[in-house]
Amino acid sequence: NGMRKYKIASIPADGIGPEVVNATIDVLKSMQQILKTFEMEFTELDWGTERYKKTGEYMPKDGLDILRKFDAGLFGAVGAPDVPDHISLWNLLLAIRGPMQLYANVRPVKSLPNVPSPLRGVKEGDIDWVLVRENSEGEYCGQGGRTHRGQPWEAATELSIFTRVGIERIMRFAFDVARSRPRKLLTVVTKSNAMRNGMVLWDEVAAEVARDYPDVTCDKMLVDAMTVRMVVNPKSLDTIVGTNLHMDIMSDLAAALGGSIGIAASSNLDPTRKNPSLFEPVHGSAFDITGKGIANPVATLWCASEMLNWLGEKEAAQTLLRAVEETCSKGICTPDLGGKSSTKQVAGAVASHIKDLT
Ligand code: NAI
Ligand code: MG
Repeated sequence: NGMRKYKIASIPADGIGPEVVNATIDVLKSMQQILKTFEMEFTELDWGTERYKKTGEYMPKDGLDILRKFDAGLFGAVGAPDVPDHISLWNLLLAIRGPMQLYANVRPVKSLPNVPSPLRGVKEGDIDWVLVRENSEGEYCGQGGRTHRGQPWEAATELSIFTRVGIERIMRFAFDVARSRPRKLLTVVTKSNAMRNGMVLWDEVAAEVARDYPDVTCDKMLVDAMTVRMVVNPKSLDTIVGTNLHMDIMSDLAAALGGSIGIAASSNLDPTRKNPSLFEPVHGSAFDITGKGIANPVATLWCASEMLNWLGEKEAAQTLLRAVEETCSKGICTPDLGGKSSTKQVAGAVASHIKDLT
């Protein structure tokens, strides 16, 4: 048969990760029953803090080779109250993103129906952004060290590395994203006034790449002024590109302006497609609501839509996102969005809406 087949690794990991990932897999499974155009085989990997406590490792030594056998990965969240965050993050998520060269982190932000933005006067559709974050170097390259531990003059360095190759490939990717959207508008976030080396190279390479995209309107914003523009004039933005650190912060701001961290999705892409890409909600493991069955699955469902899109299942991707939006507009949502539904009820409503749409 002509059924397209995909092997998906699921890494639910910590906190509410398993709740939102499993709810999303249920929706994807019923979706393939309904559409009958593709088949997904899910394999759950037990990577995460529980494994770390038992074995001393967040993921096995050959973890990256294991991942490479899949077409894509769906990730939940990592982080536990009794493990320092830099340990959990560097031993799992950053141990995958960097070595796998998932250099483009893409975060779509859209104001969904019935999810009011905290910004006064922002209506549904007013915020429709794609944030592109450099995901492999910059401020999070991991170089630096500590000396004179415990002394009053204890010192620490945190080095940022910007390479021409690293900047050029993320710029090309961002310009391509901007070009694919109706407004063809890209904002390059920088801080080249205060950071006169790395950020100046960043600006220069952006300007060089811009010459290859005469159809894309491009402007440059200092990161501090950018926070103001996002709040005061959100409609003036469309596609946004920035460094690892800048976009880490801006994308949380964007998620909050979009309505909730519980709906924000993120894709870690290898645009060369040599490695499988990894899809994960922006939120963390949310200890405060773990196990209560009320985690918002929308962020992870949105990730699943992004994953379908990346795999080439464009129609299925659109159907899923539409079902999520229309479920929100019916008021079927979790308490973080002011609703009364559980994780499973929202996922169930999305699945049955997909049936109605097809
Ligand atoms: P968090 O995103 O886990 O939670 C922040 C707040 O948002 C909490 O009140 C939580 O209940 C709420 N929230 C988050 N996701 C939600 C959802 N799907 N539905 C409803 N409410 C939701 O961020 P926090 O508290 O700073 O971090 C907790 C742990 O997660 C830490 O260990 C941190 O390192 C880790 N973390 C991991 C990330 C990842 O795996 N990518 C990203 C962010 C944090
Ligand atoms: Mg973050």
